[in-house]
Amino acid sequence: MSTAEAQIRLTAVNKTYGAHAVLEECNLSIQAGEFVVVVGRSGSGKSTLLNLIGGLDRPTAGVVELLGQSLAGLTEDELSRVRCRRLGFVFQFFNLIPTLTVQENVRLPMALNGASKAQGIRRADLLLRELGLDECGSRFPEELSGGEQQRVAIARALSHRPNIVLADEPTGNLDLETAEEVLALLEQTCRRHGATLVMATHSREVLGTADRVFTIRAARIHEEPP
Ligand SMILES: Nc1ncnc2c1ncn2[C@@H]1O[C@H](COP(=O)(O)OP(=O)(O)O)[C@@H](O)[C@H]1O
Ligand SMILES: [Mg+2]
Repeated sequence: MSTAEAQIRLTAVNKTYGAHAVLEECNLSIQAGEFVVVVGRSGSGKSTLLNLIGGLDRPTAGVVELLGQSLAGLTEDELSRVRCRRLGFVFQFFNLIPTLTVQENVRLPMALNGASKAQGIRRADLLLRELGLDECGSRFPEELSGGEQQRVAIARALSHRPNIVLADEPTGNLDLETAEEVLALLEQTCRRHGATLVMATHSREVLGTADRVFTIRAARIHEEPP
């Protein structure tokens, strides 16, 4: 596939905090539907990279493009609209809303994008079934195990049919066995729904079956040979 079709593209991206260069000269191009893992030690810049891709942060220099559009010229409102419509997020600590039921948590991104309640319920039920959570829709997050909460977060991340899912250490708070289960579900569900998945992890134990693996070392990003 030619690079012209890249869904995520970083060109000569730098991110510095004062004198500290976190990322230098990062070039990256990811195609639609790929499952990409970013590995690196704690503090190597994985979250920084995901935040730049997700428009949660802006580079010090260089260009981030999503779906062929540069994020550089967008206002904060425009950026948050791109995030809301195009991206799904999965975090280490699940970040479910404790006062909403599982169903309502999953429906939230759809509601924010103007879907009707009936549409929301239908799709939330489908996703919860795919994630093995059929029985959990009316429960509250605190009534679920960590692994179950992360499966709800995966359903939520995909509910509004995002193009891209960004997962920052999604298994970092789970025991290894649960981590492997959750990772497999995350990957399968993204593939089934055709979403590009970019996942950061510090642990090579949970690389999964990525299409491509990038390592961040000394502020540089390197692609590992397949
Ligand atoms: N807002 C910030 N201000 C200053 N330094 C930061 C900020 N955010 C991250 N850093 C630094 O950038 C480096 C990379 O952080 P991060 O991207 O969170 O790494 P990782 O996710 O790989 O653990 C760390 O040294 C961290 O201290
Ligand atoms: Mg991090």
